[in-house]
Amino acid sequence: MCRSTRRWRVCCRTSSSRRPALPSDPLQPTWRSQALEALRIADPAAKAQAARAIDVRQGRSGAVDDLHAGSDIPGRPPRPLLVDPASLKPRKPSTREGRGALLHALAHIEFNAIDLALDAAFRFGGLPDDYYRDWLRVADEEALHFTLLREHLRGLGYDYGDFPAHDGLWQMAERTRHDVLARIALVPRTLEARGLDAAPPLRDKLAAAGDTRAAEILDVILRDEVGHVAIGNRWYRWLCRERGLDPEVTYRRLAAEHRAPTLRGPFNVAARRSAGFSDAEIAALVGDDGPAAPGARGPTA
Ligand SMILES: [Fe+2]
Ligand SMILES: [Fe+2]
Repeated sequence: MCRSTRRWRVCCRTSSSRRPALPSDPLQPTWRSQALEALRIADPAAKAQAARAIDVRQGRSGAVDDLHAGSDIPGRPPRPLLVDPASLKPRKPSTREGRGALLHALAHIEFNAIDLALDAAFRFGGLPDDYYRDWLRVADEEALHFTLLREHLRGLGYDYGDFPAHDGLWQMAERTRHDVLARIALVPRTLEARGLDAAPPLRDKLAAAGDTRAAEILDVILRDEVGHVAIGNRWYRWLCRERGLDPEVTYRRLAAEHRAPTLRGPFNVAARRSAGFSDAEIAALVGDDGPAAPGARGPTA
């Protein structure tokens, strides 16, 4: 990982609202229009670079601007081939091909996560500037995750696009495109949060297969993903307050309306707590599917 990446991360982990603001140039593209442009890019490396280049220390969010996208989003490369998830083969990290397929699946999740964060920033207007700062920070970190996984995949002799993949993440973005509350409830607080549960056993499998570099990358990803889910929780609760809604009742309604996947344990309770899920939410989750795994780890523990 390069030093500039670390510097950026230290910088963006301080409260964004306390960053020194540079004077804004009215002719400069807004943060939201830059997010839309990055979302349109099909080449994976160029998209990741564009997502990382959006600088929220200068310019303006464009929160009240009217932005529209056609059918050209998200920009995607011709491969990977998108298939029915049921047709994807299980991946065993003990073989080179199995490890390649597994790392490819993770890279695909991260590539989609760049689009999801950019879309959260571009699509929903009229929100506080900190909302856009938060999602553009997420887009930057997802772009880093994708880049780290792709580099490692290349080291194994494969590249992004070499294995088939599925389109489940973006399909949820489509289903929730009309309402920021539904989007935040079901993408960061459901799909990304599921990654908190899945990452530790996956990390251990890769380490057991002798891939210490993959395990290190998973550690970085898990640490950052707690922050992404925390951002989701922060804005979900803010939106519920603004609309006078009960967060827990509303979540159940939205999950049913938008056909959210049923979450199955074991759950990474420590990571979910760090990400801001309430005791009642965790109890409801664990109660739905038995106790949490005693070995589940939080990245900050
Ligand atoms: Fe990520
Ligand atoms: Fe994420």
